Amino acid sequence: MERKELELFLGEDWTRVRDYMSSVLVSDVDLLARTNSSIMEHSGKQLRPMLALVVARACGGGCNEDTIRFAAATELLHNATLLHDDVVDSSPERRGTPTINSILGPRASILVGDFWLVKVMETVMACDTSVSETGAIFAGTLCNLAEGEMLQLQKSVSCDTTMEDYLKIIYSKTASLFETACHTAALSIGACPSELSAAREYGRCLGMAFQIKDDILDYSGNNLGKPVGVDLKEKKITLPLLGALARVPDTEAFHIRRLVSEIGPDADESIEEIRRFVDRNGGVTYAEGVLKEYSGKALQVLDGLRDCEEKEILARMVDYLAERES
Ligand code: IPE
Ligand code: IPE
Ligand code: MG
Ligand code: MG
Repeated sequence: MERKELELFLGEDWTRVRDYMSSVLVSDVDLLARTNSSIMEHSGKQLRPMLALVVARACGGGCNEDTIRFAAATELLHNATLLHDDVVDSSPERRGTPTINSILGPRASILVGDFWLVKVMETVMACDTSVSETGAIFAGTLCNLAEGEMLQLQKSVSCDTTMEDYLKIIYSKTASLFETACHTAALSIGACPSELSAAREYGRCLGMAFQIKDDILDYSGNNLGKPVGVDLKEKKITLPLLGALARVPDTEAFHIRRLVSEIGPDADESIEEIRRFVDRNGGVTYAEGVLKEYSGKALQVLDGLRDCEEKEILARMVDYLAERES
């Protein structure tokens, strides 16, 4: 299902999420208020809050005030981590426009990210659904995000990323927030235990598939609104490369890992060599196979939800995310 279609389907509930976000992002510091508005105007796909609303409806509820708040909190948290991530990754561009990091510098990007994080905290604390439970869920995800990014940083120095490391990194930095979006949406409407666990597992698998697709697109995409081919420049060993490495003798794998570890600012030639290596050894095809497994699992766990239009939409979102080119 296309994003625009989803927005129309969600109708008034979607407007409430956007309005809620705008209402908490006010500040009497002009630079902050203007930066917040600019981020809101250049919003990305906003998948996490949309997913949250569909999940809440699929679990049999309409969207109540807490559903709207939790959905907004996931997008606030996502944007906060991107503001920080663009500093970590020195990224010049996101969503087809220059990053706050490149316009206002890293200090502003970090401080604005901090502001958005605090808004997540305030949002969750204002909810009627058990704050101790949902606060712990959001805190756990934030902890995962930081740990995932740190593990990725550690591995970009040692260049010894294993499949297990990779799966841990992508769960922590991406899938955990998808899981939380679905889990807290289901909690907000008082879903039963089996629906809660189906919603959670659906979010986790969809998030894993989403990050794998993102990593594939870094090798093959061209319409992302952010630069492609940057993972290798940042010495990130992602699934396409891991798949290719698994197919060759140890000596060749060792040589390629060494090339990755030596990547510096002028490493175009070795990056080209590594990309050719991934091509030659079917790395992207391998990653597409793993992506299919997670997509399949996400579809399978939907059996735990009652039959309804929203469940169909959740199934279509799996295909949409797996096939996306942007
Ligand atoms: C980007 O997420 C970061 C990843 C987890 C890959 P999105 O692709 O959802 O970013 P926006 O919000 O749509 O720009
Ligand atoms: C971003 O990871 C995920 C976060 C949790 C911040 P990446 O660094 O791989 O994502 P992009 O490519 O900047 O969107
Ligand atoms: Mg990053
Ligand atoms: Mg990044």
